[in-house]
Amino acid sequence: GQAVVTIPVVVHVLYKTSAENVSDAQILSQLAVLNNDFRKLNADFSTVVPAAFQSSAADLEINFCLATKDPNGNATTGIIRKSVPNNFVFDDYYYSAANGGDAAWNTTKYLNIWVGAFTDTDLLGWAYPPAAAGYANDGLCIAYQVFGTTGTAGTYPYTTYNKGRTATHEIGHYFGLDHIWGEGNLPSSPDPLVCGTTGWSDGCADTPATYFAYFGTPTYPNNQYTCTSTANGAMFMNYMDYVDDKAMAMFTNNQKTITQNVLSSQRASLLN
Ligand code: ARG
Ligand code: ZN
Ligand code: CA
Repeated sequence: GQAVVTIPVVVHVLYKTSAENVSDAQILSQLAVLNNDFRKLNADFSTVVPAAFQSSAADLEINFCLATKDPNGNATTGIIRKSVPNNFVFDDYYYSAANGGDAAWNTTKYLNIWVGAFTDTDLLGWAYPPAAAGYANDGLCIAYQVFGTTGTAGTYPYTTYNKGRTATHEIGHYFGLDHIWGEGNLPSSPDPLVCGTTGWSDGCADTPATYFAYFGTPTYPNNQYTCTSTANGAMFMNYMDYVDDKAMAMFTNNQKTITQNVLSSQRASLLN
């Protein structure tokens, strides 16, 4: 495979209250989680991933670092702090200075991360798939309560999102990964009929087919939502499922194939 790549990151902290103005330490704690999770260096790998799934796990060979040069070539910490008048609702101009946010740095060159408060506490964060490359809103927008592992991370009501895995999951989407159950949005109720339906797949043979998201801390093996019951059951501990942060700990080899393809196509310009 190709060598390990490093993605330059710019973090836009959009704060209304001082609590929302997350510390440098909290930002660095999120970078550390990403650099562990995308390199299969996460300390919880062997305890969270069952033995039967460990050989499917991949080092995605993606590293993240705060940008050291801004778009004009000047030295930067890669962290921008901006006091904003309002909290954000979904996709509500966090990327627009004119609308009280902060404009992206060239999204073909940087992974932009906006950290802020959302009016909707059901929202943890979101990121756009590779087709968004170059758009003004491309990148990760994330709630300050689920960002990193220290400071405000995991504060109520986000207590189960305290290990920085929301960013891991979202940046998985950014690099082309779909949810394990193969659909961008959850069906309104579990529907076994969608199993085997064309298009209802994450494109990964090494993630057993499921038809619904797992939440919380499921017990292994688990066939509650598998399309076909097997001894090992669902790979609910994959970062691209919906379990608690402490219950997710792996990407797979087939997911790596997707991220590598994206890194050599839609998102190749990040590496220049
Ligand atoms: N709900 C979010 C999404 O669909 C992410 C959930 C991440 N899960 C977690 N344990 N952090 O993209
Ligand atoms: Zn998702
Ligand atoms: Ca699959």
